[in-house]
Amino acid sequence: MSPVGIHSVSTLYSAEKIAARVESLAGEIAEAMPDDILVIAILKGGFVFAADLIRALHRAGMRPQVDFMTLSSYGTGKESSGEVSIARDISDDIRDIDILLLDDILESGRTVAAARKLLLARGARSVKLCMLLDKPGKRKVECEADFCGFTVPDLFVVGYGLDFAHYYRDLPYIGTIDDD
Ligand code: IMP
Ligand code: MG
Repeated sequence: MSPVGIHSVSTLYSAEKIAARVESLAGEIAEAMPDDILVIAILKGGFVFAADLIRALHRAGMRPQVDFMTLSSYGTGKESSGEVSIARDISDDIRDIDILLLDDILESGRTVAAARKLLLARGARSVKLCMLLDKPGKRKVECEADFCGFTVPDLFVVGYGLDFAHYYRDLPYIGTIDDD
């Protein structure tokens, strides 16, 4: 039934540590961007981070609107396929809008680089990238985050929205899957 057995996960970032970083990240964003922005979260991985970040942005005095886009460059394994496709698009016109494009992790950079290009082509005033995690060791295209939660080593991580074969998004912390 499930391709994923039951494994334990070793914590890299606890729920408390993530919450503290999300709060300080919101402060950085509030300093650098206007109060009225559109947060576009990339699904599925970005939804947990987005839910926490928009409330932290509110506390930092901003008025974010939120939309979602489903872009995928991954199958069910741990290696990127290298192709990016749009499975679900945002619903509104984004001309002259300042956008904060948000995702769980910046790895090869293909996913967000493709999304940013598309949003700018549609007339967005600006597109800044906010990534919870950055794995710089795996970059394949030129793409850097404007705001980044944590820089992670070259390990496959799960939790807080990040999955392995659709499991583990529900973990309140981020960690690595232990070998049996
Ligand atoms: P990129 O296009 O290679 O930067 O891939 C980014 C996407 O790959 C992210 O949105 C994640 O869904 C997925 N991904 C990359 N690294 C990991 C990981 O360590 N754990 C879980 N998903 C990952
Ligand atoms: Mg993802």
